Amino acid sequence: MKRQQFGVLPDGRSVGLFVLENSNGCSAAVTDFGATVTSLVVPDQRGRLSNVALGFDAPDNYLAGHPYFGSTIGRFGNRISDGRFTLDGHDYRLARNNGPNHLHGGTTGFGMLLWRVTSDTPPDAQQLELNLISPDGDEGYPGRLDTSVTFTLTDRNELRIDYLATTDRPTIVNLTNHSYFNLAGPAGESILDHEIMINADRFTPVNAGHIPTGEIRPVDGTPMDFRRMTPIGTRIDGDDDQLSFGNGYDHNWVLNRSGEEPTLAAKVYDPTSGRVMKVLTTEPGVQFYSGNFLDGAFVGRTGRPYGRRSGLCLETQHFPDSPNQPCFPSTVLLPGETYRSTTIYRFGLKP
Ligand code: GLA
Repeated sequence: MKRQQFGVLPDGRSVGLFVLENSNGCSAAVTDFGATVTSLVVPDQRGRLSNVALGFDAPDNYLAGHPYFGSTIGRFGNRISDGRFTLDGHDYRLARNNGPNHLHGGTTGFGMLLWRVTSDTPPDAQQLELNLISPDGDEGYPGRLDTSVTFTLTDRNELRIDYLATTDRPTIVNLTNHSYFNLAGPAGESILDHEIMINADRFTPVNAGHIPTGEIRPVDGTPMDFRRMTPIGTRIDGDDDQLSFGNGYDHNWVLNRSGEEPTLAAKVYDPTSGRVMKVLTTEPGVQFYSGNFLDGAFVGRTGRPYGRRSGLCLETQHFPDSPNQPCFPSTVLLPGETYRSTTIYRFGLKP
């Protein structure tokens, strides 16, 4: 692992950039600011290496605020309705940073804080462990949350992310990574020609305010059916309430899974480069977001603006608004318990 100076925060603290490299020439760059993946370099079908993760080379772009390019999301991925939830009879009010709702952990989520490199990071390994302590009451959440995120680049061309968290009071937690991918590389424009498979028979429909209705609905016969590889653009602008509420795809799929090991959540294929990305996770859900809100306002490292649908996210997670949805798997974490979650982004080529 190589460590570089990336920048300096307004309070003088220094921000690092950590580059993990594997034996195949792949690399993953992660900054301790927001435990953020800034680039991910993998080969195409001709052996050419290029970056498939949207991001910036300059730290100031990250410090200035952005729509979660590569960010670690915490304490809670996606929306909590009305920024409220009840736990053990106590009412908690969270920051409302997305209309009336709480989104991705609040006003200053984990992606906008400086993490600490832990001493568990082996100096010679392709691994980086970062730690963050979120104090009791942070963004309205109860409990002091002690979180660590470990990024590992394996020789199988996988970026593996392991999350751990503990608390000193009952709380809720739902961590994820918000990387945007374009498998065509830096010159890639839209992701609408990428094909995707999502290993899910069901999804959680939302209302017009992007909040799950609580229903778990079969994908069968809907534009949400990605059980077979399908180009993302085929149905995205179809006449469908869910697509209009989401502005395209911005929904949680209920993964078909069993057991404790990471299992296949989704597979993405880009026909121009031949690249394939598989996402494996221990989580029950994945948010497939087709980059609908990107509007060219952010200019990436190639000097080109990131336009609408120029990147896609596969955010492994517990379901949005779980704290207010009694039928969804629980996101409660109690003192003495350890929250654990693992997601693997595995890169390859179409056989
Ligand atoms: C998530 C949400 C989207 C949007 C993006 C960030 O994926 O579900 O609605 O907020 O983050 O722009």
